[in-house]
Amino acid sequence: MTMVKPIRSDARRPLLEVRGLSKSFGAVPVLKGVELDVYEREVVSIIGPSGSGKSTLLRCLNRLELPSAGHVRLEGREAGTRSSELVRLRRRIGMVFQNFNLFPHMTVLGNVIEGPVTALKMPRAEAERLGLSLLEKVGLRERAASRPAQLSGGQQQRVAIARALAMRPTLMLFDEPTSALDPELTGEVLAVIQQLAEEGMTMLIVSHEMAFVRRVSDRIVMMDHGEIVETGPPDEIFARPTTERTRRFLASFER
Ligand SMILES: Nc1ncnc2c1ncn2[C@@H]1O[C@H](COP(=O)(O)OP(=O)(O)O)[C@@H](O)[C@H]1O
Ligand SMILES: [Mg+2]
Repeated sequence: MTMVKPIRSDARRPLLEVRGLSKSFGAVPVLKGVELDVYEREVVSIIGPSGSGKSTLLRCLNRLELPSAGHVRLEGREAGTRSSELVRLRRRIGMVFQNFNLFPHMTVLGNVIEGPVTALKMPRAEAERLGLSLLEKVGLRERAASRPAQLSGGQQQRVAIARALAMRPTLMLFDEPTSALDPELTGEVLAVIQQLAEEGMTMLIVSHEMAFVRRVSDRIVMMDHGEIVETGPPDEIFARPTTERTRRFLASFER
């Protein structure tokens, strides 16, 4: 008689599966066979030196870059090259960049509802209700009628987060979301991201804010020269890094 194996929670299929992902620009390899799983409700942070391929990895996940080799599966479905698959993928993955990238000629609310109205064909009234509730969530409901240029960088980035959330993504990618901000404005953006983590949003975060990364992440991925050098729970990576490259990288943040 065969035993029925109990279903363990870690036996779930990952939300995001990255297999053998490689990317070269011309003859220069920038990603070399990256393997990564991200489970639902997991917060994974990618750290590593400048030029190690962190942004390229995120951009390959939502096909802003076309990988040279390898596979990306989201919710069990292969991210192929057909345009219908691309559209689906981009809707399911929200991305927040370093430089906000808001539409300057639109109001704050207009920026947030643009995706739902044009891509999802959501009725405007419904989109506005959604948009206002998301602006409330990021603490900017009263700025709905402002233009991006009237806001601080921290406020603009919070609008960018609300705009990404408006598409109801299954996965959120953050690429150095506070790197363009003055130090006094980073906290308000990190607080919003932390709140999302507490609510169970699945997130992949590239950040150099080491205290934040340690606090908010379930798992850390250390990259160098296009490879994952080391991965583990934050307390292990920060307290007991197993590779010299990670040790050296983390030491560069100590003063
Ligand atoms: N579009 C591109 N064309 C050529 N080289 C690129 C391009 N984008 C990134 N690179 C190179 O790929 C490497 C990794 O870049 P990137 O992914 O931005 O690293 P990180 O985000 O870790 O700083 C760098 O050497 C960078 O110069
Ligand atoms: Mg980068």
